[in-house]
Amino acid sequence: MPGNTPGIPYSASNYALCFKCHSERSLRNYVIFEKHKTHIDIVSCARCHDPHGVPNGTTLANAFLINFDLNIVASGSNGRLEFRHAGFRQGSCSLCCHGENHNPKTYGPGN
Ligand code: HEC
Ligand code: HEC
Repeated sequence: MPGNTPGIPYSASNYALCFKCHSERSLRNYVIFEKHKTHIDIVSCARCHDPHGVPNGTTLANAFLINFDLNIVASGSNGRLEFRHAGFRQGSCSLCCHGENHNPKTYGPGN
C-alpha cells in the first residue's frame, strides 16, 4: 500500500550490484544523503532512485536519479509528491511513506 512501511530489512547482499561501484560505507555513514542509513534500513534503493535514468527528468525534481516508486510512495497529506534538489547535499521531499507525511521534510546543513 503506498504510504506504508515496505519493511525490507537491510542486507548488503541485496545491493551487491550497486556496491560494486558505489561505496556502501559512505552510503551508510550519512556522508552523502544524511538520511540514507535510516531509509536503507527499511526500503530498497529503487524506492527512491531509478538507476537506469529518468525519462523526461528535470534537474530540480530528478537530481541523483531520484524517481519515487509509486507502488510504495504516496502523496503527502498536503497533496504533493515531489523531490526538490536545493544545492550541495540539500533538498526536500514532499510525500507520504513508511506511514509518515513529509510536508515537506528537508535535509542538509541546518536540518
Ligand atoms: C529514501 C530515499 C533514498 C533511498 C532509499 C536511497 N537513496 Fe540514494 N540518495 C537519496 C537522495 C535524496 C540523494 C541526494 C542527496 C544529495 O542531495 O546530495 C541520494 C544520493 C545518492 C547517490 C549520489 C551520491 C553522491 O556522491 O552524491 C548515490 C550513488 C546513491 N544515493 C545511491 C543509493 C543506493 C546504492 C541506495 C540503496 C542501497 C540508495 N541510494 C538508497 C535518496 C535515497
Ligand atoms: C558499473 C558501475 C555501477 C553500478 C553497478 C551501479 N552504478 Fe550507479 N553510477 C555509476 C556511475 C559511473 C555513475 C555516475 C557518477 C557521476 O556522474 O558522478 C552512477 C550514478 C548513480 C546515481 C546518481 C548519482 C549522482 O550523483 O547523481 C545513483 C543514485 C546511482 N548511481 C545508484 C545506483 C544503484 C541504486 C545501483 C544498483 C542498482 C547502481 N547505481 C549501480 C556506476 C555504477
